[in-house]
Amino acid sequence: MCGIVGYVGHRPALDVVISGLRRLEYRGYDSAGVALAIDGELWTEKRAGKLANLEAAVAEAAPPPPPATTGIGHTRWATHGGPTDRNAHPHVSSDGAVAIIHNGIIENFAELREELAREGIELLSETDTEVAAHLVALELPRCAGDLAEAMRRVCRRLNGAFTLVAVDASRPDVVVGARRNSPLVVGVGEGESFLASDVAAFIEFTRDAIELGQDQVVEVRREGVEVTDFDGNPAEVTPFTVDWDASAAEKGGYDLFMLKEIAEQPKAVADTLRGRIERDGTLRLDDMRITPAELREIDKIVVVACGTAYHAGMVAKYAIEHWTRIPVECELASEFRYRDPIIHPRTLVIAISQSGETMDTLMALRYAREQGARVLAICNTVGSTIPRESDAVLYTYAGPEIAVASTKAFLTQIVAAYLVGLYLAQVRGNKFGDEVRQILDELEEMPAKVDLVLDTVEGVRKIARELADSPSVLFIGRHVGYPVALEGALKLKELAYMHAEGFAAGELKHGPIALIEEGMPVVVIVPSPRGRSVLHDKIVSNVQEVRARGARTIVVAEEGDESVVPYADHIVRVPPCPTLMQPLVSTVPLQVFACEMATAKGHDVDQPRNLAKSVTVE
Ligand code: G6P
Repeated sequence: MCGIVGYVGHRPALDVVISGLRRLEYRGYDSAGVALAIDGELWTEKRAGKLANLEAAVAEAAPPPPPATTGIGHTRWATHGGPTDRNAHPHVSSDGAVAIIHNGIIENFAELREELAREGIELLSETDTEVAAHLVALELPRCAGDLAEAMRRVCRRLNGAFTLVAVDASRPDVVVGARRNSPLVVGVGEGESFLASDVAAFIEFTRDAIELGQDQVVEVRREGVEVTDFDGNPAEVTPFTVDWDASAAEKGGYDLFMLKEIAEQPKAVADTLRGRIERDGTLRLDDMRITPAELREIDKIVVVACGTAYHAGMVAKYAIEHWTRIPVECELASEFRYRDPIIHPRTLVIAISQSGETMDTLMALRYAREQGARVLAICNTVGSTIPRESDAVLYTYAGPEIAVASTKAFLTQIVAAYLVGLYLAQVRGNKFGDEVRQILDELEEMPAKVDLVLDTVEGVRKIARELADSPSVLFIGRHVGYPVALEGALKLKELAYMHAEGFAAGELKHGPIALIEEGMPVVVIVPSPRGRSVLHDKIVSNVQEVRARGARTIVVAEEGDESVVPYADHIVRVPPCPTLMQPLVSTVPLQVFACEMATAKGHDVDQPRNLAKSVTVE
């Protein structure tokens, strides 16, 4: 939520900052702005709306942008104050000395605003950020113009969550950043340094990065980086190398990031499995820093997550309980800590997050750790806050996910959670080695099966175009098909802005069936007819029930399952696979369905309205 870029080096800062913002635009697109520092002056430009508006304004600016090699830039997801030019970042202090950009919420801004008013400083915007610009400018002369020290003094007075990045007109060789509860990483290049909300912003220039810890201030210059805590004490930092390159964050010939990311799913699943399964079928989870002895003591698992990651957690509950016989609760991270949950040192909390920065999930894991629970993160972003604050981490290797609506992250989160479940079953002796091996074999077959689904989605596109004018779509499923139904509905809400709801198919008759009217599309996720055939038979009855009331059914069923054909207005085939593996194939057509419907309606699929990919406020 909000993308931040800072640069000091030898290249034209404007170009570096704008290209960084382009890669971070998925974090928010209510407005964008830049500030350049050169020769004792600041040059700023900012515009409401998408980055393209800023680029147009920069192209026509008078005076034109100076050839600065130091600059900052911001792309905004509005919190305080509407998405206007005036509220766009950067905000400049009243003396014109300091420009600042911000991600997060400064909770005590009202009180600070009053203090500034008493000093005769009138704020020009409705944002919480602007107070920080004035406060840093007021501190500068009190600390001999040391921007990092001024930032530390101000940070000590701020409550809430913030990443702040500032430049000072009189010291154009320095950019200073600070972070508390919001993301900020440092990029280290040859004679140049970068600050950004995530590494995508600078990946085309360097893959060497530094994680910043909580409550740290960083001063970056061409030739190096200095990190302290908010009191000025030198701080330890963790360098890391980004294991993907700039091409991974490009569209690579696809019209949309979402289409590219849907197509990358077989590889993402394979990469998440790679290197974790020994030849003899035992699992080696390298980043599992919780010992087998501790895992044997676990008597309850709580999964906390938001959005799509929450649906992955719901899928995982079915598998982990089945394999380990440990009770698993799956909880929306935003609700978790407010309901006085029963957590103790024998509870394992699994925090699932693609970005590793979702504030609701971060706060839930902090709460769990305060209660003595062990926390394992399932995360896609190396160097992000959630894995750093967890006891253990299992990375998903989906590569950067840029489209706001999550796709490949979902499949890899399920795979990673399954690996955790099987690892627990292995170390606790719930399953024999050959049983674990058999399930791992099934998992290893999934990339090829996902590939098969991708080959057959043309029919789904056609159905989506036909149904694009429907006012509402329902999704139903049972067992792991239920969270898949929820995920299908979420995708449609996010992208096509239409009413869509997912239900447990058996629950339909307890109320939601009243929604069905003539022609209403109902997507049905049909489990495999093999194995748990009771489940299959029950859902076949549910399809008949909705059809009898006029629904137009779109049935997602296994290749060869003929029993559903008489009740399907449209049929979407997926390859046969065991029940627990089915979400990995049955979700894919639903992603394509939502993407195509949104395209048919003329929506911006990669950047849906009102949303942001990484939600760093509660
Ligand atoms: C936002 C995104 C969703 C995502 C959710 C959780 O709401 O729009 O696509 O599922 O955050 O994100 P996380 O990064 O924690 O997986």
